[in-house]
Amino acid sequence: MITKKQKQVLDFIADYPRRRGYAPSLDDIRKKFKLASVSTAHFHVSKLHDLGFLSKEENKPRAIKALDCETMGEIPLLGTSTVGQPIHGFKKQEKYHALPINKILCGDAVEVMKKFPPNSVDIVVTSPPYDAVRDYKGFSLDLHTVGKELFRVLRDGGVVAMVIQDQTKNFGKSLTSFRTIIDWCDNFGFKLFETVIYRKYGAEGAWWNKRFRVDHEYVPIFLKGERPQHFNKEHLKIPSKHAGKTMTVGGTRLTNGIRIDTRSIKINPTKCRGTIWEYLTAGDGSRLKHQHPATFPNQLPYDFISCFAPKNGIVLDPFVGSGTTTVAAKNLGYNYIGIDIAPEYCEIAKKRITEECVSESQNKLF
Ligand SMILES: C[S@@+](CC[C@H](N)C(=O)[O-])C[C@H]1O[C@@H](n2cnc3c(N)ncnc32)[C@H](O)[C@@H]1O
Repeated sequence: MITKKQKQVLDFIADYPRRRGYAPSLDDIRKKFKLASVSTAHFHVSKLHDLGFLSKEENKPRAIKALDCETMGEIPLLGTSTVGQPIHGFKKQEKYHALPINKILCGDAVEVMKKFPPNSVDIVVTSPPYDAVRDYKGFSLDLHTVGKELFRVLRDGGVVAMVIQDQTKNFGKSLTSFRTIIDWCDNFGFKLFETVIYRKYGAEGAWWNKRFRVDHEYVPIFLKGERPQHFNKEHLKIPSKHAGKTMTVGGTRLTNGIRIDTRSIKINPTKCRGTIWEYLTAGDGSRLKHQHPATFPNQLPYDFISCFAPKNGIVLDPFVGSGTTTVAAKNLGYNYIGIDIAPEYCEIAKKRITEECVSESQNKLF
């Protein structure tokens, strides 16, 4: 909580760059509020910084920035001061004016997303916990409310690519994946654009005597709105089996009776991939990533983001785990937001971004 004076200082810091084009100095703050000294201005700024309302760079002039995120609600009257003045307090209200981009946020995915403005995210690539298959430090989740929030925060033409499977119990599948698809489409207005099968290879997986070895997961792609705002599948092409060979095509009769002449065509080196996408599940080689029990392959979010995210788009993973989606988003030059409820995983995700992402200057070279 901050005092009324600190709220005024915060508003001044937020408004100043809009009028002047640069941030206020401590002396500007002192003058504006007729403070006794610059150190009083420094006290207020430090307090606001410690509470997460401001960012500031040490030893750099005019480097204070009001974090464009929370609106404040006034708490009517907290009491009176020793000199009988009423004391008002201000508390962060749970809303962001603008998205907190390029951050890993620690908290419950639904609660954090509730603070986001509507229609603000371009693509979600994620793998939620399902059927309590793994104990992620004891946290549980309701996929219905996740879908509701995702639909709200997603822009028109945006998609959610969600890696999911069903647990098997007593020789029967839980059907969570199918139920979630129907629930999100029937109740929130998503369209099911496609369901990609992510086929895993490279790791043996569990051995069962009386059932199949499961080597796939589903990736339903949920679309908000009429059509994807961006779609580019060039990078998804796969080698053609008969590349370079010549094939005779045509010779068929159309429904209107016209016959197409046969002709020879040379088979391209690559062809469009279908709906089965194969990924090696072992060997991403990240020391940090392996500290998380249930990651997806590094290449998977690269493929979905490059296909569906528009230039300068915002990529969200509400169950970011070790940060695989956010690393991909940053390396591809997109803005990202990652959320995870477990502080340990948030730390791993942050470290991976520092260690595994190309710097911005390197990125510009590509
Ligand atoms: C399957 S893992 C995601 C792994 C990630 N795709 C990766 O490659 O590292 C699911 C994550 O969801 C997190 N989680 C569980 N319940 C959550 C909740 N209510 N809100 C946010 N995160 C949650 C877990 O801590 C876990 O890290």
